[in-house]
Amino acid sequence: MNVLVIGNGGREHAILLALKKSPKVDKLYCMKGNAGTAQIAENVDVDYMNIDAVKNFAAAHPEIDYYVVTPDDPLALGLVDALEAMGKRCFGPDKRAAIIESSKAYAKGLMKKYNIPTAEYEIFDSYDKALEYVRKKGAPIVLKADGLALGKGVLVCETLKQAEEGLKEIMLDKTFGAAGNVVVVEECMKGLKYTPGEEVSVLAFTDGKTIVPMITACDHKRAQDGDKGLNTGGMGTFSPCPFWTEELEEEVLEKIMIPTMNALNAEGRTFKGCLYFGLMRTDKGMKVVEYNSRFGDPETQVVLPMLKTDLMEIFDAVTDGRLADIKIEWDSGACVCVVLASGGYPLSYKKGKEITIGDIGGCTLVHAGTAVKDGKLVTNGGRVLGVVAKGETIEAARNKAYAAAENIKWENMYYRKDIGIKYREG
Ligand code: AMP
Ligand code: GLY
Repeated sequence: MNVLVIGNGGREHAILLALKKSPKVDKLYCMKGNAGTAQIAENVDVDYMNIDAVKNFAAAHPEIDYYVVTPDDPLALGLVDALEAMGKRCFGPDKRAAIIESSKAYAKGLMKKYNIPTAEYEIFDSYDKALEYVRKKGAPIVLKADGLALGKGVLVCETLKQAEEGLKEIMLDKTFGAAGNVVVVEECMKGLKYTPGEEVSVLAFTDGKTIVPMITACDHKRAQDGDKGLNTGGMGTFSPCPFWTEELEEEVLEKIMIPTMNALNAEGRTFKGCLYFGLMRTDKGMKVVEYNSRFGDPETQVVLPMLKTDLMEIFDAVTDGRLADIKIEWDSGACVCVVLASGGYPLSYKKGKEITIGDIGGCTLVHAGTAVKDGKLVTNGGRVLGVVAKGETIEAARNKAYAAAENIKWENMYYRKDIGIKYREG
């Protein structure tokens, strides 16, 4: 099979690296890709947000058998619908199902209707009403811009003053653009043992009939050590989550995952692909923080290296609706990904800095924002590289990843030094 992966980031490189191991796969393509994907796939320079351009490409390339649509934006735009209408086989939800990520208000309404545990909330399209509600509830309180905002449209406000300012930013200043026309105001959930609460990302394969959770991962969304600084797309991950147990997995399957799959079916929005559950272990049990309609980034970078089963076989089974027939197996060790970022990220940063790479031991470099310019590897984004290490334990994997990170350099590079430490006493 010839397979094309849509997207440019570390997640897409990680998916390509996993597909490359499959005996079923002949040739890989990536639209548009980066310098890392170019090493194992043919990069295709087509704008995947332009559905007609992708359709034209697909029509001109009948040799491509399978499309993996990964980022949230083309999913929300209906790229899977367009490709399937041409008879192409795809991994990823159609537009109707992708709404579970593209509208937080929709996702909250679905959870309310089907009794899926999540934080209490109200939705507003009026700034005055939202302000009145925020003042009534007081802090801490969480504000979320309704639409897609690159993972940055969520404000966890410790004080009422912060909440008032945040509401103004979202709804009046439109810092997140049209995503802020509607705001979700949520109760701030408390973790069972930690504040802020302990979070886990559980990605799941589903064909709409069966849902199979993958190995768990923990993300680090803030830019600085100790979960300080601004929210980012994710500064590192580790797998598995230390506090995860078989009992928790059963609770989550029974109370969250299966009910979500069934709810989407009941709403005529059957989801096929990777459904991402952002969960929090609270003093009142496991609750949903957010859904994503796709693989997480940088969760995928630590989850897929742990997968023993052929990823292409799983993709095929999801597309054909026979996920129940295959057994999905995982390694018993651990995996850590440390993201190396451009100085200034998640705000403004410079691109085009030359990257030098020394000894990285047995680690894998997953490329995110990289490019080749005049024969040299250069930075081309905020999150540039992920150093991925496997080990018997998180500690072993973490030491390996940090040893390699020290041998990678460019002007103003930075990374968090505490990936893989939290929740250790679980
Ligand atoms: P999201 O983009 O929805 O994942 O939110 C970003 C981050 O905000 C989450 O990873 C949590 O750390 C935090 N967060 C979101 N909603 C809540 C909530 N209701 N209570 C506490 N923390 C939250
Ligand atoms: N790592 C969080 C996300 O992919 O949204």
